Amino acid sequence: MRLVILGPPGAGKGTQTSRLASDLGIAHIATGDIFRTMRHQDSPLADRLRSYMDRGELVPDDLTNEIVAHRLEQPDAEKGFLLDGYPRNIDQAKVLDDELEAEGRPIEKAVRLMITGSEIIARLSGRLVCPVDGAVYHLQSNPPRVPGICDLDGTPLVQRPDDTEEAVMRRLEVYGKQTKPLYEWYAARGILDEVDAIGTPDEVYQRLAKVVGLYRNGAGGAA
Ligand code: AP5
Repeated sequence: MRLVILGPPGAGKGTQTSRLASDLGIAHIATGDIFRTMRHQDSPLADRLRSYMDRGELVPDDLTNEIVAHRLEQPDAEKGFLLDGYPRNIDQAKVLDDELEAEGRPIEKAVRLMITGSEIIARLSGRLVCPVDGAVYHLQSNPPRVPGICDLDGTPLVQRPDDTEEAVMRRLEVYGKQTKPLYEWYAARGILDEVDAIGTPDEVYQRLAKVVGLYRNGAGGAA
């Protein structure tokens, strides 16, 4: 399956998609995660990435498109992939469609995670991440076993640099102007589904898994 998962900052894309891609047995391609890995390098490119991301701006399309095109050529993406955080605007969607259609493997489904503005703020303001392994926690809905410490490797947890109030406001503005038009783009192609992203992570996962056909033939229950 070739899937795109869309939604505003904090909708739970990362929380849901790593599990979904694993259950579907397809590659999970998250541009935010790719950039967060690259930004730690000591290079002019990493400096540029930090400056875009920490202000809540999109990384330029040419760089983003090139990275995704390269990632889609990797062997694990041959049997299918889930794109999380890409495309982020209509120009990226056009490039993606052109590439995939030329290769005879177009996007089959796009899913929009639906969430309210107040829930976005609650999720982003309570998010903590491990700066070493990238594990994501939440002060209320998914706290670490020991407060402030990563369950997996014992590293002190931090706030993501783009979860400051100022950067969140800018990310929401960018989302409204650039990313929201993608819903119309995929709806016009007849491949858009919507999923209510309010509820526990397991409840949301059940809905998402159903929409992408993971529970065909009546097989149910979150894996
Ligand atoms: P990216 O990492 O893609 O950020 P985002 O889209 O803003 O999304 P988030 O990662 O903030 O949220 P999420 O939806 O994954 O939610 P999460 O699961 O963490 O991009 C970051 C930056 O990289 C961009 O701003 C840009 O600069 C750059 N970039 C990335 N892609 C790009 C592109 N294509 N083009 C150009 N630039 C690009 O959940 C949030 C919190 O809520 C967590 O604490 C979680 O534990 C909690 N939570 C999750 N689900 C639930 C639930 N059901 N109930 C309660 N709490 C929940």
